[in-house]
Amino acid sequence: MLGKGDLRLDRLDEARREVASLREQILYHDYRYYVLDSPEIADAEYDRLMRRLRGLEAEFPELITPDSPTQRVGGQPLASFQQVEHRLPLLSLDNAFTQEDLWAFHQRVQRRWDGEPLTYVVEPKIDGVAVSLVYENGVFVRGATRGDGERGEDITENLRTITSVPLRLRGDKLPPVLEVRAEAYMDRQDFDELNRIRAEQGEPLFANPRNAAAGSLRQLDPRVTASRSLNVFFYALGYSEGLELETHWQVLEYFRAIGLRVNPLIERCSDIAEAWEFCQKIQQLRESLTYDIDGVVVKVDSLAAQAALGATGRSPRWAVAFKYPAEEATTVVEDIIVQVGRTGALTPLAILQPVEVAGSTVSRATLHNADVLKAKDVRIGDTVIIRKAGDVIPEIVTPVESKRTGSERIFTFPDRCPVCGAEVQRLPGEAVTRCIGKACPAQLVEGLVHFASRGAMDIEGIGPALISQLVEAGLVKDPSDLYFLAPESLQELPRMGKKSIENLMAAIEASKSRPLARVIFALGIRLVGEAAARELAAHFRSMARLQSASREELQAVPLVGDKIADSIISFMGEPQNRRVIQRLAEAGVTMAEEESALLAAGKPLEGKTVVLTGTLANHSRQEAAELVRTLGGRVTSSVSRNTDYVVAGANPGSKLARAQELGIPILSEGDLEGLLKE
Ligand code: IVH
Repeated sequence: MLGKGDLRLDRLDEARREVASLREQILYHDYRYYVLDSPEIADAEYDRLMRRLRGLEAEFPELITPDSPTQRVGGQPLASFQQVEHRLPLLSLDNAFTQEDLWAFHQRVQRRWDGEPLTYVVEPKIDGVAVSLVYENGVFVRGATRGDGERGEDITENLRTITSVPLRLRGDKLPPVLEVRAEAYMDRQDFDELNRIRAEQGEPLFANPRNAAAGSLRQLDPRVTASRSLNVFFYALGYSEGLELETHWQVLEYFRAIGLRVNPLIERCSDIAEAWEFCQKIQQLRESLTYDIDGVVVKVDSLAAQAALGATGRSPRWAVAFKYPAEEATTVVEDIIVQVGRTGALTPLAILQPVEVAGSTVSRATLHNADVLKAKDVRIGDTVIIRKAGDVIPEIVTPVESKRTGSERIFTFPDRCPVCGAEVQRLPGEAVTRCIGKACPAQLVEGLVHFASRGAMDIEGIGPALISQLVEAGLVKDPSDLYFLAPESLQELPRMGKKSIENLMAAIEASKSRPLARVIFALGIRLVGEAAARELAAHFRSMARLQSASREELQAVPLVGDKIADSIISFMGEPQNRRVIQRLAEAGVTMAEEESALLAAGKPLEGKTVVLTGTLANHSRQEAAELVRTLGGRVTSSVSRNTDYVVAGANPGSKLARAQELGIPILSEGDLEGLLKE
């Protein structure tokens, strides 16, 4: 007879096989996701694999190995970091700032190298933290910071928490020792989110994503590091045994093959002129990247040439960093003002002495909210460092305290609305302070601007100036009033002739037929953006059903979580808002979704991801996006390997270049319209 123990042994054997298979699958999907940027399964499916593996490991702890994907966060916080000596030093790079500098670099290397003409590899220079990682027989065993180049700090446990750092490499014939170099960094969006939370909790803010990455990696408690969204790109080979590679390009290809994430924007260039071109191309892409770069690195491709060229002091002769203009600049805060938005949110803004940053003039910077203002301690008269990264609104990194003279003024956040004088309120758990005035003209004006804006009711000719006039003249007190305007009453407004009144009335009339999703978005329900509005329209198909939806029904809609559901319920609970909706309906504004003939006829872009770039002749950006969605497609903002089509109009930006680079089919406006008729 079999005893209990035998049964467990049987199960253990079975579990061992399943655990091995799960780990292999997870490793494969990590590879698809992080290295190839082309996942094969949905996140939920991946989570299921991880849960199953965790479950089995909990039941059979003897099966846990340090390279299991479940073992990213280990035991106790460290008391301090150990020092580790690098087998080969981590060098820094010489800089080049002009085309001449780059040519001089080429001349230098070509003079010293009398072999074949040299070719180059050009890579974005990620503005993060240099790290070194050691893999023994494919298993990640140690990771360190750069330190002084000779010795750094052992941050193995922290690097393990980064999901794009594989704990085990792919392949059978892995070298006994492989040391690789990488840049650990934080995406701009994750940086903003981290600072938002820190400000809310009264913690000091990080000045930029690089500092945030460095601070996150220097945590003694790996659980803290694990809570930060860090990422890595691998860019160089350090010490290795038993590898036969001839060029840096082959090194990068090898990295990808064994599961190390390599930046997709790296290019091989056959001479320095081509390298220069690519430097400029990456510079154009700079704003569209999700992370900060401070330049590009130009590297001699041949490893034999690299070895022969060697290094001078602390930097190799075979590589150079071509630096871009800084995205940071210094200026003076002339004033701090507070703006009131359509939801009543009070946003402090710094008025700056105009300054050039990364190619444009900056004269205002956001201070986000009262917490951020306090955390940064920016004062009127302060000299400050500002930063403009990507296409985000410029922000103040930090005041330069050493420049203070004592005459700076501390700005106190108002306790009344600067526009209507009503009380302001800050709800527990929220970072924003809001004006609660029921009749705040700032809110009304901003709300109407939103209502008439392109993504919403798209009423042509109604902008902030006209709206302010309508509100001041008492003609409009809420959005529904727009639909009951008497043409005669408009004659009293400045610069309103017969023709403009006719145009305006026609534009208002035309807006009545906007689809339900836009009407929902136009209402300006807090937290309900365009995407959520579309989901709500698709789900409820009528305003009446949306109005009477319960919290649970709302939460069942994609993109709608607790907060959005609560916000909708409180909006719909306001008699004033119900009245606005009622009057919009009376005016003949769309209140239900119609199934268009087109939709019924099938969707040629079903399941496809489309990016729009440039100016189209016949459609606004919003209209084109709506068209893509009507055709069943999804519109995203940045081009990646997952993009199926790019629709390009006149003056396309870097997105087109990126699409061409990735070989993504490009459609014209005509092509897109053609799909409608198919
Ligand atoms: S190669 C010997 N490639 O830039 C060559 N460095 O001053 C070593 N960096 O601290 C560097 N992206 O952390 C190289 N694609 C890239 C890089 C890169 C960022 C950083 C690196 C180093 C610094 C060089």
